[in-house]
Order: sequence, then C-alpha cells, then structure tokens
Amino acid sequence: MPKPHIYVERTLAVIKPDAVHHADEIEDIITQNGFSVLQKRKVQLTPEQASELYSEHFGKMFFPSLITYMSSGPIVALVIAKDKAISSWRELIGPTNALIAKQSHPDSLRAKYGTDDQQNALHGSDSFTSAEKEIRFFFPDSIVEPISIGDSAKS
Ligand code: TYD
Ligand code: MG
Repeated sequence: MPKPHIYVERTLAVIKPDAVHHADEIEDIITQNGFSVLQKRKVQLTPEQASELYSEHFGKMFFPSLITYMSSGPIVALVIAKDKAISSWRELIGPTNALIAKQSHPDSLRAKYGTDDQQNALHGSDSFTSAEKEIRFFFPDSIVEPISIGDSAKS
C-alpha cells in the first residue's frame, strides 16, 4: 500500500529592516495565527542579493530605492506552514502600501509595523511558484519532501 502523505503548505515570510526590532513580537503573532515556524534566519542582503529576490520588479521606478532599503540592515526570513499558508500570510500582512493598510486593514501587520508604500515591514510570497523559489533563495539546503505520517498511521 502506498505510504500516505500530508502536504502542509509553506510560504516565505520576511521581516524587513524597518521591522526587525519587532521580530520577536511578530513571530509571536505568526504562531498565534496558527502558523508553524519551520525555519528562521537573520541575514543582511547585499544589493545584488536583494536585486535577485526582487528581480520581477527590475526596471520599475521604485526598484533602486527598494534595493537600497532591503539591503540597509538585517532582515529575518522565516519558512512558515499552515493550511493555505500563502494566501493566509498575505491576508495577515495586508495591502502593499502601509498607508493604505492603515486606512483599509488597520489590524494588518503592515498597518501596524509599516510606514508607506516602500517601508512596509513585511514580505509574503504571492504564489506557490514564488514561495518555492523564495524559500530556496533563503534556505537552499531545505528539505522539500512533504511531511510524511508514520507507517503505523492508517489512511
Ligand atoms: P509588490 O510585489 O508589488 O508588493 P508585495 O510586497 O505586496 O508583493 O512590490 C514589492 C515591494 O516593492 C513592496 O513590498 C514594496 C516595494 N514597492 C515600492 O517601493 N513602491 C511601489 O510603488 C510598489 C508597488 C512596491
Ligand atoms: Mg510581490
């Protein structure tokens, strides 16, 4: 009989430089919202690494200042897991522009910790493909196999 698997969706969360001093508090909120933190790393990106992470935005007006901001200090990258983790984390962080978030989603994390359309405190992968790519970017050695339930469990 094939071994049954449970697939738990994962996404990449990043606490950006402007919010790193609230990292412990934000991690508590993450777990209080039902996510498991599978991996965590504090790193400072070089401008080249920040450009790679945000390569989809290359050529846009805001790209140079985004890269300066994202490489301006340490960030915390977390792999978090939950049912529908990708959309659930995007919902919890709120709209991209923290000024808009403060108006329309006052309980969101960008409303709480962000400042404007650039300094918005948090990142979340926007799709399954991005999540996979971004998790590998920060955790190249991460185990990608699904979580397997034991042989003793019945399907
Ligand atoms: P984007 O992928 O559009 O937003 P999100 O982070 O919600 O997926 O943009 C990536 C980052 O680029 C965003 O978090 C902040 C920055 N940014 C700006 O600085 N100015 C802008 O006008 C936009 C749209 C984004
Ligand atoms: Mg995006």
